[in-house]
Amino acid sequence: MLIDAAGLDPTQAYFLMTSVVVPRPIAWVSTLDAAGVANAAPFSYFQALSSAPPMIMISVGKKRDGSPKDTRANIEATGEFVVNVVGESSGPRMVRTAEAFDAGVSEFDEVGLRPAPSAMVKPPRIEECLVSMECRHERTIQIGKSGVIFGEILCFHLADSIITEAGTADAARLRPLGRMGGKQYMPLRDLTEIDGAGAVTLAASESLRLWARFRDRTVAMARALEPEHLARKLGDETVGGLLMHLANTTSRLRLLAAGRVDDFVYTDYGPDWNSDRVVAELEADRDRFVQEMLTALPAESERLERVIRHEVWHQGQIAATLRDDFPDNQLWRA
Ligand SMILES: Cc1cc2nc3c(=O)[nH]c(=O)nc-3n(C[C@H](O)[C@H](O)[C@H](O)COP(=O)(O)O)c2cc1C
Repeated sequence: MLIDAAGLDPTQAYFLMTSVVVPRPIAWVSTLDAAGVANAAPFSYFQALSSAPPMIMISVGKKRDGSPKDTRANIEATGEFVVNVVGESSGPRMVRTAEAFDAGVSEFDEVGLRPAPSAMVKPPRIEECLVSMECRHERTIQIGKSGVIFGEILCFHLADSIITEAGTADAARLRPLGRMGGKQYMPLRDLTEIDGAGAVTLAASESLRLWARFRDRTVAMARALEPEHLARKLGDETVGGLLMHLANTTSRLRLLAAGRVDDFVYTDYGPDWNSDRVVAELEADRDRFVQEMLTALPAESERLERVIRHEVWHQGQIAATLRDDFPDNQLWRA
């Protein structure tokens, strides 16, 4: 379907625009009027414009009666405002601040928002928001009936609980709310990291990170061992396992040779498997069966020995590779 924008009335254009430009971040803007009354209202025609200087914009329409919305009037009168980031849990309160309160009525009081002092501007921050940006009005550009307000960010407030090691905000803890069309909002779900190779959800990449940490620790432990020692240690364990297997086979053969067919079957297949038929077959042909097993054993042990040798060699290779990859690590010298 092709929709010609020229054929849309302003209301249609609004509903279409806000359903296709999604999701939008929400600026919960706090301002002060000339009498010092605090105002708060949400704006989702909101974007970051530049980083140096750090600038944002909001686009503010008019009230039903055609007069400027309080936010615009306040910003242009005082030159200052604060953009607070809306967290998931603030959704209902944020929506209530969009109601058309009379000028001079504070949304802080009406909705029960707590003001927090700002550092560089007079309008307060909204205390429950984990991120706030104090802004100075840079300019307003009139586009149609909307005033596009540009603001330079003077300082950022980030709650300690969401700061990453890089000094940025951790989205998973900030949990910002996005605006879709109409009454639809988008809480954060399945935060996903995407690069040229693909996409992984945060949960998956957390697992990858954990795995990487585990691998690094394992490598560090391996580096603490001499390669020969490592080969011997891992080799010994493998050899031990294989010898155990041999011993089991041998002891089961002894059981069979001693005529303890029940015990043999029990050992071989476990307690839940004891078919009368199999026991009877083994009893009937016990001598031939024992002979077959005894003949097979030397060949089996030869095979096992080959496996053991290969395992020892293989582990030695891993140890040598580690040493080549990390030749300067002091652990090798220790
Ligand atoms: C999530 C949300 C986003 C909004 N975005 C805008 C916007 O971008 N521009 C606008 O003019 N009004 C927007 N509004 C409506 C204003 O918040 C509303 O008109 C408010 O009463 C203005 O308050 P004020 O007169 O105190 O400035 C939005 C409302 C909601 C709930």
